[in-house]
Amino acid sequence: MTDINKRRVRVKVPASTANLGPGFDTLGMALDLYAWIDMSVSDETRITLHGDQMNGVPADKSNLIYEVAQLVFKRAGVEIPELDIAMYSDIPLTRGLGSSASAIVGALTAANALIGDKFTKDELFQIATELEKHPDNVGASLFGGIVVAFWDGKRAEYIRVEPHERLDVLVAIPHFQLSTEKARGVLPREQSLENAVFNVGHSSVLVAAFCTGRLDMIRVAMKDALHQPYRAPLVPGLAGILAEATDHGALGVALSGAGPTILTLVDRDSDRKNELESFMRGKLRAEGIEATLLWLKPDREGVAAQVLAPEEQGCSLLEFVKGETLG
Ligand code: HSE
Repeated sequence: MTDINKRRVRVKVPASTANLGPGFDTLGMALDLYAWIDMSVSDETRITLHGDQMNGVPADKSNLIYEVAQLVFKRAGVEIPELDIAMYSDIPLTRGLGSSASAIVGALTAANALIGDKFTKDELFQIATELEKHPDNVGASLFGGIVVAFWDGKRAEYIRVEPHERLDVLVAIPHFQLSTEKARGVLPREQSLENAVFNVGHSSVLVAAFCTGRLDMIRVAMKDALHQPYRAPLVPGLAGILAEATDHGALGVALSGAGPTILTLVDRDSDRKNELESFMRGKLRAEGIEATLLWLKPDREGVAAQVLAPEEQGCSLLEFVKGETLG
């Protein structure tokens, strides 16, 4: 074991989509869009943030990565007040792609690796859920694939489901931010029994469809009555896309997490991918919304950490990420 003061860890953590329509605060899926974090013990705290997605993120001790790492050390009874942290992210902030969950999971995993993996993955899941207050995004970023989870305020429980090999994902990421706080703020505190039954039924059938490979059932099962109808006014174009995307080649469609990103599941072998892209872009443009459309795949691995060998520590995070993303 290397001396902790000489250890440098590198973590790769995926983005995620939450809810998948009816599974409000319950379903999550990891996506192959990533953030990377390097962390080591230092004499003085240095936080280096790379990439356009990091604009406006604090680079002092109020940084989320630093704060979460300190929480891990505190719970482990270890004192490491000064850290050298570097982060690069391709995950857009406050767009419904789980950027804060990725940061939390990445920081927990990096700090845990730095102190020799004192916590199990399940313990990290419990801490991450306490911080996020719902297990959907953090579960997906931790475990990869599709995660079905609940949190009772004390413990989070989950089962991971392997995504079907033919599942592709098209996301439309609007060029405006929508905070989770605002998107939760528009939700009614009370719901009818009909809505509750609607969502239990749809979410259950959706999970069963994922488990049994019934891609044909995603279209009807991926519908929601608990949050999307109330959030639709916050995302111009969403209502039309939810209503019609499956007529343009999508297997199913949902608001990604708290939005504003809109997510469609698409059969990898579909010959209607261009049609779906034009439809989504057209619907958003008609409302004056510009968006970036990205084709993604489910991430199957979840967060991964490596302790860098001394000879690997010479390669900066940025050089490493360039090597990874350029193949
Ligand atoms: N399930 C959460 C929501 C995800 O929809 O508000 C956002 O982080």
